[in-house]
Amino acid sequence: MSAVQARRETMVGGPLHRPVCRSLRAHQQAMATMHMRTLFEADPARFERFSIQVGDLLLDYSKNRMTDETMRLLLEMAEEADVAGWRERMFRGDKINHTENRAVLHTALRNRSNAPVWVDGEDVMPKVNAVIEKMGAFAERVRSGDWRGYTGERITDVVNIGIGGSDLGPQMVYQALKPYRHPRLKLHFISNVDGAHVKETLEALNPETTMFIVSSKTFTTQETMINAHTARDWFLAQSQAEKHIARHFVAVSTNRDAVTGFGIDPANMFEFWDWVGGRYSLWSAIGLSIVLAVGAERFVELLEGAHEMDEHFRHAPLAENMPVILAMLGIWYNNFFGAESHAILPYDHYLRSLPAYLEQADMESNGKSVDRDGRLVDYATGQIIWGATGINGQHAFYQLLHQGTRLIPADFIVSLEPHTPDMQAHHDILIANFLAQTEALMRGRTLEETRAQTGQAAPHKVFEGNHPSNAILLRKLTPHALGMLIALYEHKIFVQGVIWNLDSYDQWGVELGKQLASRILPELHADAPVAGHDASTNALINVYRRMSQPRAGH
Ligand code: F6P
Repeated sequence: MSAVQARRETMVGGPLHRPVCRSLRAHQQAMATMHMRTLFEADPARFERFSIQVGDLLLDYSKNRMTDETMRLLLEMAEEADVAGWRERMFRGDKINHTENRAVLHTALRNRSNAPVWVDGEDVMPKVNAVIEKMGAFAERVRSGDWRGYTGERITDVVNIGIGGSDLGPQMVYQALKPYRHPRLKLHFISNVDGAHVKETLEALNPETTMFIVSSKTFTTQETMINAHTARDWFLAQSQAEKHIARHFVAVSTNRDAVTGFGIDPANMFEFWDWVGGRYSLWSAIGLSIVLAVGAERFVELLEGAHEMDEHFRHAPLAENMPVILAMLGIWYNNFFGAESHAILPYDHYLRSLPAYLEQADMESNGKSVDRDGRLVDYATGQIIWGATGINGQHAFYQLLHQGTRLIPADFIVSLEPHTPDMQAHHDILIANFLAQTEALMRGRTLEETRAQTGQAAPHKVFEGNHPSNAILLRKLTPHALGMLIALYEHKIFVQGVIWNLDSYDQWGVELGKQLASRILPELHADAPVAGHDASTNALINVYRRMSQPRAGH
């Protein structure tokens, strides 16, 4: 018996072996041949029963391959996995991130009730509130023009240098809240270590009017550090004096020593804490670029929206709990139908970065094969999250959603009231298409209908239908609604992590590549032949050495 097999053996009795899962598997057999058309025909009140509203967010989950019985069993599974217990442990600050021995408290960052939250005997709320205050006061100085650059000019451009959670969240929110932006301040985001990213961004900027936010939880991330040093060199090349750095560089980090070592005045450091996961950090000082762009008041509205969802998630019964419902439907398809991916399809131009944001949030959290007890799992965990804005996707990959061979559940996210009231005709077309797509995915078109509609009984014009989708409607894409939406997904990810018995808050899977890269880096320009890797890697390094030199005349 191999070590892997031996470890799998220990899963007997694991989360997917409970009696309720046997019932779910038997139920899935029945549901596999059940068409959603039939379910809708049999129950005109299906929307009323399978939709839920929380504040300005409405979730319609009626276009899923499920019945009351499905939901009953899925909720039983959630109960047996002790979702409610884990939820409480998270909110009250228990160290549920076991492998790093940390609490998981992004909810404290937006705890607008201000009720105490204890970590190691300390109520964290005073320091959370102090940082929010400090961010607001700083942002106000920059936004009002009171804060000047080293030549006395106002700041016009703010560059966030960060990667992963220190980039994707602020960037997505900056894009989403475009209608609320300050008219003078333009934000830029540098993340990629590819020199083209920093070079292109800096080329368009003036050091006298540019402010940099170096955003890094650890302040050791290689990509961010080299980009920050390049920006610093670029700034010093013109300003000619280190003393000017204080007016143009601020830092967001948990690592005060490294920030000071970089040359940033600790007074210009905005702090956060190890109990904030990188991909859950936009609510912390990592959101400084957001505060600069939309102002403290709007940022607080974003926090309030997330808090409203937190309260709902924490207190609503599982059967009426939006994140729980979304999560358990995901489990249904992932673990009982064998679906491998899940599409995020925003029908809102301002939400076009949401799929990339959720890719990190979800896949870095639940893309794991070892459970909380160190055992290799014998079931599928984290789904592949992907997507793009709806209308564009319709003219690209929807073919596969409609007529491909795979089951791909999808979330359609729609803002009902646009930020462009003068473009109502556009908005109507957008909405009509969202409605049409979810209807087509659900109903499909039979051979008989195809014949009747096209005059041909052509199999390639038939749509099987029965493709599941959720519709998430926002009254309007306000900071509040956006906060609710992001928190909804964070909690969905949490619930799925509980079901799969994972530590959703570590990310050891990013380590090996980093280690190997630091070993390879000096080898790229060493003289000795490289022989310490496998044949492919050795050869590729040698090819790089040979072919990366510019050729004469090119
Ligand atoms: O890729 C791993 C990771 O640690 C992410 O979880 C994180 O968001 C990103 O790197 C950036 O880390 P830091 O904020 O420490 O620079």
